[in-house]
Amino acid sequence: PDTLRAAARGTGVRIGTAVDMDALAEDDAYRGEVATEFSTVTPENVMKWQLVEPQPGVYDWAAADRLVDFARAHRQTVRGHTLVWHNQNPAWLTEDAYTPAQLRALLKKHITDEVRHFRGRIWHWDVANEIFNDDGTWRDTIWLRNLGPGYVADALRWAHQADPRAKLFLNDYNNEGVNAKSDAYYALMRQLKAQHVPVHGYGVQGHLGVQYGFPADVRENLRRFEALGLSTAVTEVDVRMPLPADTVKEQAQARGFTVLLQACLLSRRCESYTLWGFTDRYSWVPGVFDGQGSATPMDEDLTPKPAYDAIRDTL
Ligand code: XIL
Repeated sequence: PDTLRAAARGTGVRIGTAVDMDALAEDDAYRGEVATEFSTVTPENVMKWQLVEPQPGVYDWAAADRLVDFARAHRQTVRGHTLVWHNQNPAWLTEDAYTPAQLRALLKKHITDEVRHFRGRIWHWDVANEIFNDDGTWRDTIWLRNLGPGYVADALRWAHQADPRAKLFLNDYNNEGVNAKSDAYYALMRQLKAQHVPVHGYGVQGHLGVQYGFPADVRENLRRFEALGLSTAVTEVDVRMPLPADTVKEQAQARGFTVLLQACLLSRRCESYTLWGFTDRYSWVPGVFDGQGSATPMDEDLTPKPAYDAIRDTL
């Protein structure tokens, strides 16, 4: 097979990428790769609250609609990302401006309006993103402080009501293997299932780095969530490295990508494996992690690295 999409055919796992909508508009080569290499897409930013509701009650769906249309034209599914988060919220959304009851009403309206807008066109929704700390305690956010931990069940119920056919996920990083954070998810999701809260999937982002080593028990972790009746997904894979890149780091990087892919392929209900960008030309990593980069399977010229071949050969 000469594309990842072709290689993934018949595996039961969709192969995806996060999409940068500016690049999709301006860069023909980038657009061509998105169209041909992948069978599912995730908006890197344009479905986040900050971008869809810049002023209270003023929605801008244009960029997100363009992605959904692009996906339909290329027979790709869409992972909606993300409805409830502590980052990339609108500037107007502050605790000083609203009471807890008002914040709850705003969250309900945001989820209802956004999920309804895309109703029938979203495969997986990342309903809540990054709700726990690495030690398994609840992350201190505007939502936890004002609504208490029940905000997660509420968000899932509101999303389900607005689009009963979308699969609803909780998503995080550093939760790929069995550890305190994934234990917290396991306990929460078991409880949500017992209470018949509509929750359908567990997402592991997969932001790895060659200098940290890779989790060894990803398959075991995914399996325990699947035993609860949940789907799983690998949602945001990249494998960064301290710059400059060299062949040793690139070999290690290839292994990071395949560790997560193998775990997904070996799991019965792992539905997708999504790259958080496929080319260094637009990767978020250098801008956020000082001195690190080269985190995707293609370099800035879209030339495949060893990681690209490793992913294709693992599929
Ligand atoms: C990142 C985007 O890639 C950047 O462009 C943006 O500036 C910040 O957010 N976990 C997530 C993603 O769930 O939404 C984040 O995306 C990366 C970490």
